[in-house]
Amino acid sequence: MQASSIIIDKNRCNGCGICAQVCPARAFTIVAEKAELSGSCTLACDHCAAACPQTAITVEFSEKEPFEFASFSAKPAENRAPVSPAALVNMMRARRSCRVYREKPIEREILEDLVKIGITAPSGTNSQKWTFSIIDSRSKMLAFGESIATYYKKLNRLAEFGWLRKLLKLCGQPQLDIYYREYYDSIKEAMIQWDEEKDDRLFHGAQAVILVGAEPGAGCPQEDALLATQNILLGAETFALGSCLIGFAVEALRRDKKIKERLKIPVDETIYAVIALGYPAISFQRPASRRKVAIRWM
Ligand SMILES: Cc1cc2nc3c(=O)[nH]c(=O)nc-3n(C[C@H](O)[C@H](O)[C@H](O)COP(=O)(O)O)c2cc1C
Repeated sequence: MQASSIIIDKNRCNGCGICAQVCPARAFTIVAEKAELSGSCTLACDHCAAACPQTAITVEFSEKEPFEFASFSAKPAENRAPVSPAALVNMMRARRSCRVYREKPIEREILEDLVKIGITAPSGTNSQKWTFSIIDSRSKMLAFGESIATYYKKLNRLAEFGWLRKLLKLCGQPQLDIYYREYYDSIKEAMIQWDEEKDDRLFHGAQAVILVGAEPGAGCPQEDALLATQNILLGAETFALGSCLIGFAVEALRRDKKIKERLKIPVDETIYAVIALGYPAISFQRPASRRKVAIRWM
């Protein structure tokens, strides 16, 4: 993100130098007990303004997202509101992938707020080149699902050719063979259920999806998109919404350009996460168990 300008109010500034300490670009110098911009602001991270005890610094952006939410209020002053580790971890552990939803639409203002919660995430070099596309109509989700189903049906037909799997493997491309062994059967079954029983095995009957992607030019597009995604998953939890990442949709979008075309997503944009959302029909009584983690102390 580009800052259009940094304004220092010399009347307010008391030369404490905190702006110079926090600035990652070392762009401030204290001269005669006042802050001066002596270098260039490369990240537009806003840290100087956020840390200044005198509120003497303003970073202006051409387009700044207001810190406002439609479905709840959160003042910037509540920035440091303490959240206990227990409260945080309880919420995080309560999040489970939801695969049974109620037929209740999600309010648009909540979906928009989820995106705003998403963009509180960090991004490499503060590029913020993430993108968010929302589908909140079941008929459009099913049309999207149909394109994904077409992709997997084609892939399954290809994977049925044993000679092709062997040839690709010999050429150092074992992916089709791995797909055949690990996914072919379950995808085949899911496709039959999708076609014949109209069973939504892809989005599990969710009421909306958020596609999180990145425009070209970001240094760490995938990391940025996935960090925003995790924020959205946790944000969804606070609205009593269930969520599920749909990796099968991401893979199909990556491999079949036509799916992106149909969704009118620009060709040079990459989608890194598809998040299914809806009000859960089943609530989990116990938190997720995890395999024991091995920490390597260095
Ligand atoms: C990258 C990624 C892709 C996923 N793709 C799918 C998917 O396509 N369909 C699905 O039902 N679940 C999908 N999941 C959900 C995982 O199966 C789930 O997170 C895992 O089993 C742990 O369960 P929990 O989320 O309830 O803790 C995906 C999760 C991740 C992180």
